[in-house]
Amino acid sequence: MVAIPGPSVLPDAVRTAMARPMPNIYDGYLVELCFEVLERLKGIARTDGQSFMIASNGHGAWQMAIANTMLPGDRVLALESGRFAIIWGEYAAMAGVETEVIPGDFHSPVDIEAMTARLEADDGSIRAILMSHTDTSSSVRNDVAAVRAAIDSVGHDALLMVDCIASLGCDPYEMDAWGVDLTISASQKGMMCPPGLGLVWANERTMNVLDTDRPRVGYVDWHLRKDPEFFYEIFAGTPPVAHIHALATALDLIDEEGGLDAVWARHAVLADGVRAAVEAWSTPGGISLNIPDPAYRSNAVTTIRTGSMNATDLRRRCEAQSGLTLGIGFAVEPDHSFRIGHMGWLNPPMILGTLATIEATLHSMGAPIGGSGVAAAAETIGAALG
Ligand SMILES: Cc1ncc(COP(=O)(O)O)c(C=O)c1O
Repeated sequence: MVAIPGPSVLPDAVRTAMARPMPNIYDGYLVELCFEVLERLKGIARTDGQSFMIASNGHGAWQMAIANTMLPGDRVLALESGRFAIIWGEYAAMAGVETEVIPGDFHSPVDIEAMTARLEADDGSIRAILMSHTDTSSSVRNDVAAVRAAIDSVGHDALLMVDCIASLGCDPYEMDAWGVDLTISASQKGMMCPPGLGLVWANERTMNVLDTDRPRVGYVDWHLRKDPEFFYEIFAGTPPVAHIHALATALDLIDEEGGLDAVWARHAVLADGVRAAVEAWSTPGGISLNIPDPAYRSNAVTTIRTGSMNATDLRRRCEAQSGLTLGIGFAVEPDHSFRIGHMGWLNPPMILGTLATIEATLHSMGAPIGGSGVAAAAETIGAALG
């Protein structure tokens, strides 16, 4: 069992879909399927805007967002709440964009007050705000609508760009209702596909940036991708056929479960189970949840601090002795934190099995724990089962 925060477990139906033979890539069902998937993706981000797929990982989606909307010398604010908005900003900086970080810490959401003050003092050079909805390293889930409200409160026209790589298909996300201008994501987490497909959505305001005399930006360029004369232009070349089959099937699975709301509700129940377990294990100076405020905890990933206990040892034992792979601690205290991914194709036996294996390993290490996390998780998940 792999319980890392992406790539997530692949449903059998997705794996089978990927094994389909290669079709004609110029004509026939694949063309229709691609346009259909692009249309269905709008519902996943809850937007009427334009959707794009790119044969890439999440970094490619970041690149597509920046290259099409920013010019060298433009300024962006990257809101820190873990690692990922910072890394996005670093990649923007490599493309010549002036990147300024609004500092945060590893345990809390982005600092909206500091961002607002910076926007108020701006001389008009800030073109975009970059943030993660969920930061996969800290497991914080930010309040995107509150960030939009703060931008509006000072009348600033910066584009709001949100990284939903960890949250899409796991936590409620409403691109249009929350006033997000651009969303990026990727295939390998809540979308239940292997890594290799970047996803980008842009609203009208963002797409209007293209109407200016901008230099074209090659592979990631939106001009042809949005208005293809020939089908291959959607992907700037040969389409990633297996990934398109996979994503179409994953979207079917979401529909079969009852749609995104049902999928979000399942994630909430399983995440509550994980959090109940960690809280039961917690001791002073020992295990604890990395995000103290319950309002900002992700339903896709949980970062767990282990205090004096060595988390690397715990992870290695789980893997070697029981075949359970846990997520590494990221950036801060790597030897004293680990992560449980609970995103995508998961059910109670998978989560309860994961928690029980961690608990057994904690016992084997003689680690101090407050009580049975398995019992707490079973009670929490049981209450939700009704
Ligand atoms: C929130 C977030 N953003 C961006 C990335 C980078 O994605 P990739 O590794 O697919 O390039 C990740 C990867 O885990 C992530 O979790």
